[in-house]
Amino acid sequence: MANTGLKLTMFFLFIITYEYWSSHVKLPALTNSSSSTHLIKDVFILAGQSNMAGRGGVIDRYWDGIIPPEVKPSPGKIFRLGGDLRWVDAHEPLHADIDINKTCGVGPGMAFANAVLRRYPVIGLVPCAIGGSGIEEWSRGGRLYELLTRRVGAAVKGGGVIRAVLWFQGERDTLNITNAELYQERLHTLFIDLRTDFKLPLLPVIQVALASGEGPYVETVRKAQQAINLPNVMTVDAKGLLLQPDGLHLSTNAQVQVGKMLAHAMLQSHYAR
Ligand SMILES: *[C@@H]1O[C@H](CO)[C@@H](O)[C@H](O)[C@H]1NC(C)=O
Ligand SMILES: *[C@@H]1O[C@H](CO)[C@@H](O)[C@H](O)[C@H]1NC(C)=O
Ligand SMILES: *[C@@H]1O[C@H](CO)[C@@H](O)[C@H](O)[C@H]1NC(C)=O
Repeated sequence: MANTGLKLTMFFLFIITYEYWSSHVKLPALTNSSSSTHLIKDVFILAGQSNMAGRGGVIDRYWDGIIPPEVKPSPGKIFRLGGDLRWVDAHEPLHADIDINKTCGVGPGMAFANAVLRRYPVIGLVPCAIGGSGIEEWSRGGRLYELLTRRVGAAVKGGGVIRAVLWFQGERDTLNITNAELYQERLHTLFIDLRTDFKLPLLPVIQVALASGEGPYVETVRKAQQAINLPNVMTVDAKGLLLQPDGLHLSTNAQVQVGKMLAHAMLQSHYAR
């Protein structure tokens, strides 16, 4: 009889402990494609060339590995779509398995994502930037446009919503006056084509006005960027931010600032949820 009482007591103790545990202990977030896909709600596309892919902290093909607090991972909250189209916890370099022919370092992506977490609690970043790419390669039908749409297709398959395109490109198009003069028209067409193909006519696009260029026509491309007149296309300006010794790539701290500027623009947008 006493034995039965003890068993019952143990049984209820177990139930109470279990109830407490299951209601108070948060299970760790799963970082696996199959298990985390359903969590991905708010998708941000990162596109452009090297300064979007991230060269912060890279000198002579070596990345120093320095991660400022704004760039730290937020496991279970910020994911990235890997080169294998699987979601994993995001950390810099976000483009390590995308811009594979270059040494990647810190870009604006993690600083952006950490700064918009209070509005978008589960973020899926889709890195697509490729170092040295000209805008022609990003035109509809071009190699990089196709890469981007394929990756974004995979990103939204699990029920995600595309929230914005973050665009940082044009340094390559400063090499050649013809390309610099064609930039505005090509950029305008690109933004329209992306919105058309994603069936999101007011999809926010936040572009970064150039801080540097590979050639002499930086001002021509900057003017083209600033002249884009489409609803809900926003521009933040990287001019004057600290560059690496190569004079072309933004330093880690400059990338943190770009990420914060992009986040500020996103949070200000009337179209943002
Ligand atoms: C990851 O997914 C595989 C199946 O794709 C599964 O077997 C494995 O248990 C998962 N791991 C975690 C940590 O969820
Ligand atoms: C990397 O370089 C190879 C060989 O030049 C090229 O075929 C490939 O497209 C490049 N990949 C990227 C992502 O730039
Ligand atoms: C600029 O690029 C175009 C197309 O690649 C080429 O036809 C033209 O000759 C180039 N112009 C100069 C000044 O290099």
